[in-house]
Amino acid sequence: MKKIAVVTSGGDAPGMNAAVRAVVRSALHEGIEVFGSVRGYNGLIHDELIPMTLRTVSDIIHRGGTVLYTARSPEFRTEEGMQKAVDTCRRHGIDGVIVIGGDGSFRGARDLTARGIPCIAIPGTIDNDIGCCDETIGYDTATNTVVEMVDRLRDTSQSHDRCSVVEVMGRHAGWLAMNAGIAVGATSILVPEVEYDFQRDVVERMKEIAKTGKQHFIIIVAEGVGHVDELAKKIEEATGVEARATVLGHVQRGGTPSARDRILASRMGHYAVHLLEEGKSERVVAIRNSVLCDYDITEALEMKKPFDMDAFRMAAEISI
Ligand code: F6P
Repeated sequence: MKKIAVVTSGGDAPGMNAAVRAVVRSALHEGIEVFGSVRGYNGLIHDELIPMTLRTVSDIIHRGGTVLYTARSPEFRTEEGMQKAVDTCRRHGIDGVIVIGGDGSFRGARDLTARGIPCIAIPGTIDNDIGCCDETIGYDTATNTVVEMVDRLRDTSQSHDRCSVVEVMGRHAGWLAMNAGIAVGATSILVPEVEYDFQRDVVERMKEIAKTGKQHFIIIVAEGVGHVDELAKKIEEATGVEARATVLGHVQRGGTPSARDRILASRMGHYAVHLLEEGKSERVVAIRNSVLCDYDITEALEMKKPFDMDAFRMAAEISI
């Protein structure tokens, strides 16, 4: 292993920079040269590679986003795009690629490995929806961001005796919604993994809670459930409590990564370099019960993450 490339791909996640830094520094420590691919896989396709040094990754551990930029690359899904990426790697003598991103990025890494370029994937997504991994880079920061934003909403909601209906990110995954919902003591949490009944899970809960004297409410809704404007209107009609909808949107993806995400990213970046050095490829770095491990990419993509129904039920029990 003489030269490798590092790629950040898909939706950015806080902590990606810490992972890039760890990859670069660990590789240089082992005497391996590193290139950074600009804008995800597009950098490999269009030969936009930056030589990475100890100093190109200085002062980035605390920054959100990704200094390498990122993209969802439709071109990389075509045979021609993939071949261009392989050609770029060959031209530069790149012996391995480390990709930081979500499941879409993992598929790219698997396809590139199949064409002879060994790849290792690192899970970086605020959705925490990677089956083989307890926690992904960016998830902790995003949860804290949602909690901070909802705490602010609570102040105004409480002052007006209102119901705040808050949409948080997660098109297919409700982890962020559920755990932020637990942390803010949301009255109801609606996620794509669990079917809900508007009357039973929202209206009746609010009415029961109102009987005990509480007059403001927070409903957390994952993006995959959506329709928060409509939901707020329906809540107002059904309960008589004034309701406002807020979509938190992309603020959830930005900001300074938490210490937990920086540490996770540093450990995973370092581990990924050592996997490549050991001659491994087509692996996903994961963390289970606080221990780093790795899985075959295809196996990892097929693994389902069972939704934590105990935590979900617990939230409903104590958030009253
Ligand atoms: O996968 C991360 C994520 O933030 C999802 O939670 C969200 O549905 C999606 O990306 C939004 O993507 P985009 O940045 O393309 O709007």
